[in-house]
Amino acid sequence: MTHINTRTDLKCNFTPVFKNLLYLFAVLFLMSGFIYPNNHSFKIGKHDFLLDGKPFQIRCGELHFARIPKEYWRHRIKMMKAMGMNTICAYLFWNFHERTPGNFKWDGEADVVEFCKIAQEEGLWVILRPGPYVCAEWEMGGLPWWLLKNENIKLRTKDPLFVNAARNYLKEVGRVLAPLQISNGGPIIMVQVENEHGFYADDPEYMGIIKDAILDAGFNVPLFACNPTYHLDKGYRKDIFPVVNFGSNPEEAFRALRKILPEGPLMCGEFYSGWFDTWGNPHTFGKIDRYLEDMEYMLKTGASFSIYMAHGGTTFGFWAGADRPFKPDVSSYDYGAPVTEAGWASEKFYATRNLISKYLMPGEELPEPPEQNPVITIPSFELVEFAPLFENLPDPKISSEPKTMEFYDQSRGSILYRVVLPPGEEAVFKAEGVHDFAWVFLNNKKLGVLDRRKQNYEIKIPERDTESVLDIFVHAMGRINFGPEVHDRKGLISPVIFRDKRNNLIDVQEWKIYNFSYDSVMLSNLKYDKAKEKISVPGVWRGEFSIDKKGDTFLDMRRWGKGVVWINGHCLGRFWNIGPTQTMYIPAPWLKKGKNEILVLDILGPEEPVLQGLNEPILNMLLPGKDFTLSKRPDVKFNVSNTAPVRAGAFENDNNMESVRFNKPAKGRYFCIEILNAHGGNRSTGIAELDLFDINGEPLSHQSWTIAYVSSEELVEENGAAENAIDGQTFNCWITESKEGNTEYPHYLVVDLGKETEISGLRYVPVTGKDNTGKIREYKIYIGNDIIKK
Ligand code: GLA
Repeated sequence: MTHINTRTDLKCNFTPVFKNLLYLFAVLFLMSGFIYPNNHSFKIGKHDFLLDGKPFQIRCGELHFARIPKEYWRHRIKMMKAMGMNTICAYLFWNFHERTPGNFKWDGEADVVEFCKIAQEEGLWVILRPGPYVCAEWEMGGLPWWLLKNENIKLRTKDPLFVNAARNYLKEVGRVLAPLQISNGGPIIMVQVENEHGFYADDPEYMGIIKDAILDAGFNVPLFACNPTYHLDKGYRKDIFPVVNFGSNPEEAFRALRKILPEGPLMCGEFYSGWFDTWGNPHTFGKIDRYLEDMEYMLKTGASFSIYMAHGGTTFGFWAGADRPFKPDVSSYDYGAPVTEAGWASEKFYATRNLISKYLMPGEELPEPPEQNPVITIPSFELVEFAPLFENLPDPKISSEPKTMEFYDQSRGSILYRVVLPPGEEAVFKAEGVHDFAWVFLNNKKLGVLDRRKQNYEIKIPERDTESVLDIFVHAMGRINFGPEVHDRKGLISPVIFRDKRNNLIDVQEWKIYNFSYDSVMLSNLKYDKAKEKISVPGVWRGEFSIDKKGDTFLDMRRWGKGVVWINGHCLGRFWNIGPTQTMYIPAPWLKKGKNEILVLDILGPEEPVLQGLNEPILNMLLPGKDFTLSKRPDVKFNVSNTAPVRAGAFENDNNMESVRFNKPAKGRYFCIEILNAHGGNRSTGIAELDLFDINGEPLSHQSWTIAYVSSEELVEENGAAENAIDGQTFNCWITESKEGNTEYPHYLVVDLGKETEISGLRYVPVTGKDNTGKIREYKIYIGNDIIKK
C-alpha cells in the first residue's frame, strides 16, 4: 500500500506557459479543499472499519517517538511494517510539546509531523492519541507540571482551569496535525479522545468537551475512546466510538464492549505485549504463549488491535512517571515488547510476524526487517571530577515556611530546604508529605532518609548545644501518571513541624530554599574538584572517554547509587542501584567519534566512580539489599480473631469482576480479606484490583493506602507484589506464591487505609490469564482498627 500524496502527471502537449497555468490552477484547486488530493478515505462501517470503502482490519503497533532517538525513527517504523503492522499508534505527550504555557515545541525530538511523514512513506497509517491526558508511564500522564502551580486545579475534569489549557493545546495540535489526516492526503485515520477516562471518573460531559475541542481543532476523521474491560460504560457517549483495552481474555473484553456497541467493528485499543517496570520490583517479561493465542483470536475473528507496546524504547530525560501508591517507573521502557529497547527483533517479534503472515490481506506481503544497528562496548573508565551540590548552591529564596517545588516555579529535580534550629534537647521533625525522598542533614551530618514509598515522614533530631543548620534535601522522581494522584506536587507538600521531647512546638523563623533543576545552565555552571576520598553526598561527577567507532551501547551503572546521567548533553534518564534496570541505553547517534563527555548526578555516591559500556542490557537484576529504606515488609502483629467478619461469602466461578455491598457499612483503619480457597483448586490466587466503596457507594481514593500485611506474595517468578492489588491498574496483580514460600490457604491481605474510614462494599477484579492462579472462592472480610499492631 502506498498512500503518499502523488500528483497526477500531466502528459499533454500544451505550451509551457499554459502548462504552468494549468499546474498552478490545479494546485490552487487542491489547496482550496474542494476535493481531496488523493482518494483515500477511512470510515467506521456497520461491521468493519472501511478503508476506501473496503473492510480493513487494523493491525496497529504502538511506539512513542519521544522514546526513540529521532535518527532511529525510520528504523523502528520499518520494524513495525516488517512485524506485520499496517498502522502505528502515536501518543502525544502534552508536556513534551508545551513546556511552558503557550510556548510550543514541534521540532527536533518533538517533530511529530516528520514522524507521521516517515510512517506514510513506509506505507503505514497512523492513529493519533493526543490526550490531553495519556498515562503511558510518562511524567504526570503527559500533563504539564505547570498546571499544578494553580493550587485548586482539578485535572481531567470540567474545571475551566484545566479545560481552557487543554483546549489551547488541542487547538495547536490541530494546527500542526490536522493537515496530515487521511481526508487531507495524510496518514492519520483516527484520533483518540482522552485516555481511559472511565478509570478516573464517570463524566460523559467532560468527554464531550474534549471531543469538541478536537473537532474545533480541525480534526474530521473518526474519533474514539478507549477504556479497560470493566470501565467501558463510564463516561460513554454515542458520538465517540468505543474500543476496549486488555492484556488477556479477548472474548470477555469484546463481550463487555458489545454491551455498549451492539454493532460496529471490534477493536482492542491497547493489547499488552508485556508491562512496564518500577524501581525495586521484578522485571516483567510478558508471556509469549498467551499473547500469541489472544492475538490469533483477534486475527481470526476479524477484530482490530493495537499492540501496546510494539516497541517501548526508553523514557529519556526526566520524563518517566510513577505508578501509585508510589512506585516510580524505571527509565527503560523495554516493556517486554516484540522490538526491544534498542530496536532489536526479539523472539516475540518473529512470532508476531509469523502469526500475522498467516492472516494477510490478498496481495499483502511483509518486507524483511531492517538490519540491527551496530553495538559497541566501551572499556571501563573512571570519573575523577566531582561537584558537590551543597558547594554549588544557587541563590536562595527566602520563605517563612517551606512550599512545594511548583510554588517556586521549579518543574523537576531536587530542592534543598535549609533552616536554623535553636539549641535545645532532642526533637522530632515531621512532614506530612515528602515528595519523594529527603536526605536530612544536621550541620552536614546525615541523620536519615524520609521516603514516600514507606510514608516515613518523621526523623529524630539530636540535642543541640548551639544553633544548628538543618538541611532537608528533597529529590523528586517523576510525577504519578495515573488516578487522582496525578495532582502530584513535589518537594515538601505539607507543613513541617518540629517538636521537642515534651511535645512543645519549636519555632523556626526563616527557611532558605535552593532549587536544583539540573538544566543545561545549572550543569554548565558547576564547579568541579578532583574527588579524593569515597563520597556519599549528593553531587555531579564528570568524566570523559574516547571511542573510535560509534554504536549503541548499554552503560553499566552497577557501582553507582541513585541519580541521572547525561552524555554529550543528552539526558539518558534515571538509574538506581536497587534495580531491576542496571544499565542505561546509549543510542549511537548521541555518541561522538573521539572524545565524549559524561555527567552523573549521584545522590548516594558510587561504590567506585567507574563506568563501562556493555553490549547488552541488564534489565532484570534486583538488589533490594542496597535500598536505603528497608524493602522488607515491616514486622507487624496481625490478628483478626477479635474482629467479627463484616461479610463472608463465595465468588462465582468465572472471570468476571465482583461487586459486594455489605449489609451495613463498617468503620476501621484496616481492611482485611481472608481467602479460604480458590476456584479450580488452584494453588495460587490473587487480586488484579481492589476498590472499596464509601457510604454513598462511590469508590474511595487510594491516595493514603499502603499494604499493612500480606501472608504470601510472588516476587520471584514474576511481580506479584501486594501493592499491585491497590495500584489502580488491572493488568498487574497481587499473586500468592505458587512454588515456594507460603502456598497454604488461608491467605490474607490487609490494607492500611491511612485513617479510620467508613466502607459500604468492595469491588474485586480477579486475576485472569495465568495458569496456576484461580479466582477467589470463599472469603471473609474484616474491617477494624485492631487488625494490625505496629
Ligand atoms: C493504560 C494506559 C497506557 C499505559 C498502560 C500501561 O492502559 O492507557 O497509557 O499506561 O496502561 O502500560
